[in-house]
Amino acid sequence: MRARNPYALVLSGGPASVYSDDAPRVDPALFELGVPTLGICYGAQLMALELGGRVDRTGVSEFGRTSMEATESRLLADTPPEQTVWMSHRDTVVAAPEGASIVATSPATPVAAFEAPERGLYGVQFHPEVVHTPHGMDVLKNFLYRAAEAPPSWTPAAVIEEQVARIRAQVGHERVLCALSGGVDSAVAALLVHKAVGEQLTCVFVDHGLLRQDEAEQVVETFGEHFHVPLVHVQAQDRFLELLDGVEEPEQKRKIIGREFIRVFEEEARRLGDVRWLVQGTLYSDVIESGGTEGVAATIKSHHNVGGLPEDMKMRLVEPLRLLFKDEVRRVGEELGMAERMVWRQPFPGPGLAIRIIGAVTAERLEILRQADAVLQEEVRRAGLYGELWQSFAVLPAVRSVGVQGDERTYGYPIVIRAVTSDDAMTADWARLPYDLVETISARIVNEIPGVNRVVLDVTSKPPATIEWE
Ligand code: XMP
Repeated sequence: MRARNPYALVLSGGPASVYSDDAPRVDPALFELGVPTLGICYGAQLMALELGGRVDRTGVSEFGRTSMEATESRLLADTPPEQTVWMSHRDTVVAAPEGASIVATSPATPVAAFEAPERGLYGVQFHPEVVHTPHGMDVLKNFLYRAAEAPPSWTPAAVIEEQVARIRAQVGHERVLCALSGGVDSAVAALLVHKAVGEQLTCVFVDHGLLRQDEAEQVVETFGEHFHVPLVHVQAQDRFLELLDGVEEPEQKRKIIGREFIRVFEEEARRLGDVRWLVQGTLYSDVIESGGTEGVAATIKSHHNVGGLPEDMKMRLVEPLRLLFKDEVRRVGEELGMAERMVWRQPFPGPGLAIRIIGAVTAERLEILRQADAVLQEEVRRAGLYGELWQSFAVLPAVRSVGVQGDERTYGYPIVIRAVTSDDAMTADWARLPYDLVETISARIVNEIPGVNRVVLDVTSKPPATIEWE
């Protein structure tokens, strides 16, 4: 660690108790190096324990929003004397490390924050990194910019420069392959690689026919025409539709689509000859989820989250987004000149419209759903709500109901409006769309799309429902 000469160290939180046998430990010499160190939750407890403080199981756990009293300090400078923080712990620091002062307390936690600025040591029992700690970002800034004097030098331009150099060094003069999904991760990863090695990159875009209106054209236009990235556009719509014929079970649909996607991609890769490198839009959040292992299985993550590449392809991975979070990827995308529409796209599932038709997928149902979804998107954007919603889309349950249009009785499909707000898709709330907007969407869908005679609004949150209907 000394050789890497860091500006600062953060000892993160974790689920263990400092007293359990398999608790992660640090070499206490770490604290003597003069590198400013911030312990968060478990990290703070570990610091207290190693530096002559005390950690107890007080019998009182603290979870969730807590009110905390803060005193004048380096770490909590310019934050209010009374503030809300997010707690999640059982053990508690009851005596700060020797020589450190206690700078915050909460009802259940006598040492909610401590610091010894002259030794560069800081600890917080609460979680400054979550959105539920309103001044958490200030605490992190105080630590990084004031205590550790780290320069705020992260810029998308610097990331691009660094990644371009890395990619060049990694792949040399060899050829690189990238599967585009239309999503922002694979798009930004592809553009970075293209910037680095130009025509050595070939992008393969498998059009499975389950995309939304104009989506395929957008990918072809953006990559082929605007950025001049060598692009193979595989029109595989018929293959997918044939395999999905009569399939109603959601997981079965997912499996079929995932398997066929890999098959098509593999065929194209073979056709391109000897390609050793595969671009993958792995994000830092994926790295964390997989436990930080290098070169996780070569799954085509950004597309289907199912299956993996066949063993015998043996391609090596280029992962230019590995150190970035989603919001950073978007900023890099903007810096690379990607259209706002692509950079700020709402998430879209790999199996696409197939899991938004409840029942068997047919060409006719796909067409109806695609049109309904296009109307919905257009009106949501017009109302200025697209960016505020996590997702907004149409669902087509393959049942029919009776209606009356003109002088005739009809027997048509309903369309469901699904719109949710969310931070991470783990939980979601149904969006309170203005009734006027709902009315416009409903009227346009039934008037413009033959075969639809009813529009309904999904008013369920997750849990108990999921965001998608399948
Ligand atoms: P649910 O429906 O489980 O969805 O609340 C959570 C998020 O995941 C997306 N999703 C998928 N993404 N392949 C994907 O790539 C899938 O099979 C899939 N299923 C759900 C969904 O759109 C939402 O953002």
